[in-house]
Amino acid sequence: MLSYQHIYHAGNLADVQKHALLAWMLSYLTRKDKPVSYIESHAGRGLYHLDAPEAVKTGEAAAGIDRVLETHGLPDAHPLLQALAACKQTHGATSYPGSPLIAAHLLRPQDSLHFAELHPGEHVALRNALPRGRAKLHQQDGFELALSLAPPTPRRGLLLIDPSYEIKSDYGRIPGIIANLHRKWNVGVIALWYPILKDGSHGPMLKALENQGLPGALRHEVRFPPVREGHRMIGSGMFVVNAPFGAQDECTRLDQLFARMQRAG
Ligand SMILES: C[S@@+](CC[C@H](N)C(=O)[O-])C[C@H]1O[C@@H](n2cnc3c(N)ncnc32)[C@H](O)[C@@H]1O
Repeated sequence: MLSYQHIYHAGNLADVQKHALLAWMLSYLTRKDKPVSYIESHAGRGLYHLDAPEAVKTGEAAAGIDRVLETHGLPDAHPLLQALAACKQTHGATSYPGSPLIAAHLLRPQDSLHFAELHPGEHVALRNALPRGRAKLHQQDGFELALSLAPPTPRRGLLLIDPSYEIKSDYGRIPGIIANLHRKWNVGVIALWYPILKDGSHGPMLKALENQGLPGALRHEVRFPPVREGHRMIGSGMFVVNAPFGAQDECTRLDQLFARMQRAG
């Protein structure tokens, strides 16, 4: 039984890192006319309202995307801010796009989009959030979906794996799943989000991923104070296979953004 709901965390500092890098990679992939495939194994509901009681209760968006906007931390032309502006125009000033809506905004009619979301309520909400016919939605295990689609048509493209890690065995399974996906789809960009945990329990997964020697592997991490006393997450990471040219430079820009925000207190 899944209980995680991303509304409590939408727009937090982890989302800023993940969504900024994702948006940059999608905008890079669409520089060429050739169509791309975009797959998400753990999609969430796609659209969030940051004045919802759940979001206000945690204050995570206030310390995340709201601060980025207040401090002009990202350039206006950044694809994440473009997707955010489009979302606000359609859904109101307090709305925030999850990764499916970011992708739906940045990708083109010739691109193919697949989203897996297992939670029944989140799945229905995702269906309502996306423009009709824009994407194929699947209420099934996201790892199974990704493995069944790989290699997708078109072959150029990106898979985002963004689990809630509610099922602790995910940490152990993910390196093998990513190796398998890469074997089946050797040109695919595979991006995994993971939390940086105080007790280091994400560490063995990262070590196993790095030991696989996957091509174009990029690991990017940002650190921030725990959102509440006793909270285990002290940072956010992305591990990307076949990282697009220039992704490292975008990571450096994100490092500068997080360092500036930390200095500002
Ligand atoms: C971290 S949230 C996704 C957030 C989203 N990617 C974003 O950035 O906007 C993870 C989602 O995965 C869903 N989920 C958990 N296990 C799943 C599975 N095995 N297959 C598909 N979805 C799953 C949860 O219900 C939750 O909505």
